[in-house]
Amino acid sequence: MTFKDLPLSEATLQRLDELGFVTPTPIQEQALPSALQGRDVLGKAETGTGKTLAFALPVIQRICTERISVQALVLAPTRELARQVAGAFEDFSESHGFSVATLVGGEPLAPQVMALRRGAQVVVGTPGRILDLIGQRVLTLGWVEVAVLDEADRMLDMGFSEDVGKILKQTLSERQTLLFSATFPPQLKRLADTHMRDPIEIETARGLATVSAITQTYVRVASFDKQRLLRHILDISDAASIVFLNTKRDTDRIGRDLWNRGYQAATLHGDYPQETRDRVLTKFRNEEIRVLVATDVAQRGLDIDSVESVINFNIPKDPEDYVHRIGRTGRAGRSGVVMSLVARAERADFERICSRTGWDIREMSLPRGMSGWDQDTEERSFRGGRRGRDGGRRGGPGGGGGRRAGSRARPGSRQRA
Ligand SMILES: Nc1ncnc2c1ncn2[C@@H]1O[C@H](COP(=O)(O)OP(=O)(O)OP(=O)(O)O)[C@@H](O)[C@H]1O
Ligand SMILES: [Mg+2]
Repeated sequence: MTFKDLPLSEATLQRLDELGFVTPTPIQEQALPSALQGRDVLGKAETGTGKTLAFALPVIQRICTERISVQALVLAPTRELARQVAGAFEDFSESHGFSVATLVGGEPLAPQVMALRRGAQVVVGTPGRILDLIGQRVLTLGWVEVAVLDEADRMLDMGFSEDVGKILKQTLSERQTLLFSATFPPQLKRLADTHMRDPIEIETARGLATVSAITQTYVRVASFDKQRLLRHILDISDAASIVFLNTKRDTDRIGRDLWNRGYQAATLHGDYPQETRDRVLTKFRNEEIRVLVATDVAQRGLDIDSVESVINFNIPKDPEDYVHRIGRTGRAGRSGVVMSLVARAERADFERICSRTGWDIREMSLPRGMSGWDQDTEERSFRGGRRGRDGGRRGGPGGGGGRRAGSRARPGSRQRA
């Protein structure tokens, strides 16, 4: 099948061709026919398999460019994801003659208000800012014919359930609703029952979905040796990596430590000003930063094709979080490597991930001289946010950026002095 076999307009087909999209991915192939007919769709597919286009194309096809009212609304859990999704729509905005407004928190209202005043047919944003703008009577959703909830389960986790309800209530009651994620926890069913009409359920992945091109490994390590092991992993490979941690405090601590030691690393979490968050992500996308040390704010939806490796410095409590974290690599048919650093106290969480997913996660042996579980005396301290043995120096800004990049500096890559 190619996109030409789907009921898409000539303009859309041409633009897809220019963007290099020829064959629909499985979720696109299965979701598009119903979504293009106007049906509500619940779409579940592995990370990195093109869910964005699966909902963007039906939206784009519906837009009436002669009308300047907001006709489509896309909600996403994080600002970074909202911006990325808006970018996917913008790929079609010029060729199709519509405008997109990105409405996210943490940045000035004025440019967003301007974008709306100029007339945007598509609005992409996070629930908080969208509600704000509705409250200020700048944003009217009364003409919204199609609503998309990307990563809806995450929005529920973040406590946005009520906000999502309030926002959807403003839209046309006979609207089309599209909901996509790689994971569908049971509570999502309730949201779908409340806000969707007879949705067609499409699933290209069974159980907890991830892509088979991701090689998953783990190592049993004493919590006090995790930082040393992390550096060892970063030293032996030049891969662009995301290191996930469970708390902002530990993210700061580990990020600073790497930065102080000359790694091309930077940190990302929700307490940084949006400007810093944007700068870090841009540098990581441009490969000026090789190691992104992040909380789960970077877990969902982010599509950075250079990410070759994901390192779980902490094991997430929730198997779904693990699925999304590791899905930051191995996107669009590429391969990826995952290494989880499991301390003794995290054993139960890790076992739950293994049993829930049924995945065969391969154990790797510890490098010589590093301590395993038998020497792990720290019970859970890493999770309580207390300092590990390595301590952590104050120093590098959130933005980071390798100062003394040593052997990890890539030739020709731009570095900050
Ligand atoms: N038909 C296609 N052919 C080739 N590449 C595609 C196609 N559709 C999407 N892609 C590319 O695949 C990558 C992943 O797509 P996308 O971000 O939509 O994945 P996703 O399913 O939403 O993942 P996640 O669950 O992590 O949000 C993007 O870089 C996108 O450009
Ligand atoms: Mg996505």
